[in-house]
Order: sequence, then C-alpha cells, then structure tokens
Amino acid sequence: MCGIVGYVGSRPVLPVLLDGLRRLEYRGYDSAGVALQNSDGVLIRKACGRLSVLEARVTDITEAGGFTAGMGHTRWATHGRPSDENSHPHCCLSGTIAVVHNGIIENYQRLRHKMEQAGHHLVSETDTEVIPHLIEEYYQGDLVAATRAAMTELEGSFALLVMSSDEPGLLVAVRKDSPLVIGLGEGENFVASDIPAVMEYTKRTFILDDGELAVVRSDGVEIQDGTGAPKVKPVFDVPWDVQAAEKGGYPHFMLKEIYEQPKAMEETLRGRLIDGGIFLPEFGLDAETAQGIERIHLVACGTSHHACLVGKYLIERLARLPVEVDVASEFRYREPLVTANDLVIAVSQSGETADTLAALREGRRRGARGIAVCNVVGSTIAREAEAALYTRAGLELAVASTKAYVTQVVALTLLAVELASLRGLLGAQELGQWVSQLQKLPQWSREALALAPEIETMAQELARWEHAFFIGRGLDYAVALEGQLKLKEISYIHAEAYAAGELKHGTLALIVDDIPVVALATQSHVFGKTISNITEVRARGGKVFGFSKDKAMAQYVDRMLVLPDCPDLLAPAVAVIPLQLLSYYTALIRECDVDKPRNLAKSVTVE
Ligand code: AGP
Repeated sequence: MCGIVGYVGSRPVLPVLLDGLRRLEYRGYDSAGVALQNSDGVLIRKACGRLSVLEARVTDITEAGGFTAGMGHTRWATHGRPSDENSHPHCCLSGTIAVVHNGIIENYQRLRHKMEQAGHHLVSETDTEVIPHLIEEYYQGDLVAATRAAMTELEGSFALLVMSSDEPGLLVAVRKDSPLVIGLGEGENFVASDIPAVMEYTKRTFILDDGELAVVRSDGVEIQDGTGAPKVKPVFDVPWDVQAAEKGGYPHFMLKEIYEQPKAMEETLRGRLIDGGIFLPEFGLDAETAQGIERIHLVACGTSHHACLVGKYLIERLARLPVEVDVASEFRYREPLVTANDLVIAVSQSGETADTLAALREGRRRGARGIAVCNVVGSTIAREAEAALYTRAGLELAVASTKAYVTQVVALTLLAVELASLRGLLGAQELGQWVSQLQKLPQWSREALALAPEIETMAQELARWEHAFFIGRGLDYAVALEGQLKLKEISYIHAEAYAAGELKHGTLALIVDDIPVVALATQSHVFGKTISNITEVRARGGKVFGFSKDKAMAQYVDRMLVLPDCPDLLAPAVAVIPLQLLSYYTALIRECDVDKPRNLAKSVTVE
C-alpha cells in the first residue's frame, strides 16, 4: 500500500524523506510527495509517477530553507487515479495543516459532504483529503487534540502523519489498522510505515499499536493511548542490518532474494532440529493439545496462500488432521465453521496484510486458537496471534515474493512433522529421517539455483508468448499455482495453473500449436499420470517445458529441466526456485520492471 515517512531533527530534511521514500517505494509507486516545515510555514511538492519525477521537482529546495521537520508519501492508488492532485500530502482550506495517509477512509463521502457544507473546498478525488479539513475544523491551537478529535469521526483504516505550520517541529502520528513505526534517534526522531525507511539512522523503534497516537518532536516522542493518557512502550531493536536493504551487487532485489533462499532456509531451520526431533517451542504444542485439535484453518493471500496449499497437503498426509485453506479475503464473509478445538493459522510475510489479519481475528472471535507464521518480527499479525512462528527469511523487498514463500513452506513442513510426531504417527526413526532430510534442503536449493543458465534459455522461448499454462498433480499443483503467479505478476504474461488431470475438463480447448505449458512432475506416485496429461497436451500441439527429478520425463516433453533429487514431500521448496528464475528471466527479456510490477504493492494493508 502507500508508504509514509516523517522526520524531525537537525539533518537536512529533504534527503532523509527521499531516502525513506525510496526504501518504501515497494509499498506503492503511483505518485509521491513531500511536505517540509520551516518558520515560514509548510511547503508541499508532489508529483504523479515514480519517485524520480518528484526528485526532479524538488531540486530547488536546499538546506538554506531551514526546514526542521517534514513528511513524505509514496502512493498506491485506491480512491482516485494517480495524478498530481490526488498525490499526498493533502492540505486543509487555509493551507496550514498537511496530512499523509496510508489506508482507506470508508466514510469519506459523508465526511466530504459535511466539509463542503462547512465551506471547505476539496480539490482531489481521494478519501484522504477530508482528513486535514476535518482536523482544521477541530483546530484551536493544539494539533494533538484536533487530530484526536478528528480520529473519532474516521471509519476505516489509517496510519496518518499530521503537521501544522502553527506548531513547528511537531509531527503527530496515529494508527488504526495500518502499520506505523517510530524510529528513535539522538536529537532527532523518525516515523515510517515500515522499518527499512528508518534503519539507516536508527535501530531503536516503537511499533505503534491500533488506537495509539505519537507526539513526535526532535527531543522526544510521547506515546498516548486511545484516551490520551501517556503510555510506556518497550523499545523494539531492529534485528536486520542496513545491507539487507541494499541490492548487494544484484541487478534486482528479486534476484538477490532468490539467491538468498538457501541461507533463508538455514535460518528457518536454525535451532528447530535438535537431537533427531523438531523443536518449535513458540507454538506451545504438546501431545495433548495436538491430539485435541479437530481442524486446522490456514488463511493467507497470494503467494502465502500457495504456501498454505503445500501446508495442507503435508499436515493432512503426515498428521492426519483435516485442514482447510482459505483465501483470507473470503474467510470472514463465508460464516466459516470454526470451533474452540480448531487452530487458525495466519500465514503472512509482512504480517500486515489486512485480509489475513481480519481472517485471524475472525477465527479467534469464533473461539479458535489463532497462531501466526510470519516473517516480520513484531508485525501486527504476529502480535495479535497467540503464538508466532517466525520464518526468518530476512528482509524481502521485491514485490514478487520468493524467499518468503520457501521459508513459509519449510516452516509449515516443520509444523506438519511436529504435529505428526505429537499425534503418535511418526516413530523415532522416521522422525530422525525427516530431520536429516530437512537439513539437506538448503543444499538442494543451491543445486536448483545452479540450473539458472538452462532456465534462461527456456525463458527466451516463453517470453514471446502472451499466454502460458502450468500443470502438476498434488504438491506439484500447489507449486504450479505459485509459478503461474510469479510469471503473471512480473512478466505480464497471462498464465493459469491447473491440476494436471483437470485440463481435459475444459481448458484443453485452449491448447494450440506451440503454446507453452510448464509441467511439474516431482511426485513419484503420480508421475505416470502426469506424463499421460503431458501427452494429451502435446497431441494438441502444446509445447511442454518439463520439470522433474526423473530424467525419464525427457522423452515426453519438448524441453526438460532435471531438478535436484530431493524427497517428494520436500520438493515444493526446491521445485519452485526454477519457476521463480523462469519468471525473472522472462520478465527481463520483456523489459518489465521486475521489482516494481505495475499496479502492485508489496504489502496490502487495505481490504
Ligand atoms: C506475491 O509475489 C505477492 N507479493 C503477494 O501475493 C503476497 O504474497 C500477498 O500479498 C500476501 O502478502 P503477505 O505474505 O505479506 O501477507
């Protein structure tokens, strides 16, 4: 979604804001803007387009301006198309109060009408613009009080930064259902939607909770609760270093993150495989609780949802527990059947995805135990869950998720094996075998990365097509879904994934000469069945790119990639890597913006 950043202190303000926005651009990149405060008032510059367009519009702003505070915004449009007028910051009638916003104000039309009746003139199509006007209505020389009063009228989700030309050196930050972090410096303080925007300057942060308001000045930060009472919050020390937020010699964050996967898997496994067993103390599971679980609900969106499909397969297969996987945005609107003996597991890289958070809350409201599998430590989902298993993928900045997916798959595999063991379905010897195989996963993923040159050649053929299909059975179907999403989101090729046996029930009609079909066959027990489906495709002219551990596939496909020889049930975390690379190289050939695909944002904090 949108990214917001704020600064109060003695550094040159504009470079701090632009640097923060650059690091937040993954949250949205339709337009950008800044507001800078000095003794003369508030100066606003904004521009439709990438951050570079804004940068070209602020070259005349220098340190001589004496700015001591400022805020910036990078937008992912929800209400109103990307345009200069719709860009943030937005201002009130008198031009004294400026606001940047991430989220959606659901009652903005009613508020807009009310403001217009009161004589305010609104110039944008956004939901945000009502906020500075509303604050102005309440303003009587106290920005904190006016912001708090305005908040009572806002419905929806918001992380806001507010400043007024009448109160220099003050930023007011509030949060409801959209993330906001305060960075604590010496004689300076920062505010941002996400940690990467501040971690070059400080690793000491407060993570704001819903309903909290922060009064941010250069010499200190006061946190207030929903009633306005001061609140003491623990300082959260950021665990990543600044280098993690750089490309480290790779041309794109996506490629860097693809190559970080062996290391990321090692991190996910670190300390969790001990003495021939699985050690997940975070979940607080013992044999009695594991036996008592009636059903597991996995809720997530996008790539994380695809990891859940792998999780379902493994938990059902190993722990013999029924698992439902829900697209998080559907879960709470379908009156799900959830009981107190159920476990709802929210799976999310960012831990801030609004739909997944809402699904977790819904599961808990219906009495289930709600737990999280998350990457970002201290994120909202991790904090609201009763327990959190961190995937430890490290900072993932490319919009297209890669290392987050494989670490989610590894984490869910650990959970499946642990549940099976606690439910008495795995003997010590089998458990020991699982542990030693899991330890080899990073090595198999390295072998998968070594296939890059062959994959690049495949991409040359794929890149000229506008449509592609992915097929597979069982776990391969789950991986195929992730492969087609990667291809769609970064190369803009229309791709669809099917359970291989399903193609003949309609979609086979779309198979024409040379159309690319990516076929996965890593599951030995259905290898022959998948080969039959491949021959059906080739009989209709489809061009099949086969991915399998079994070289026997070569005779049935047009081009084959031999995958590392890992156990079938661990194949998803390995087989997905060539598919990520295939999408990456295809997107490069098609000259697409790999790290910032059109219309997308990394963290989707609106419903
Ligand atoms: C995939 O490449 C996307 N980034 C997207 O589907 C993502 O997985 C989804 O928005 C969920 O995000 P989360 O894991 O942060 O909750």
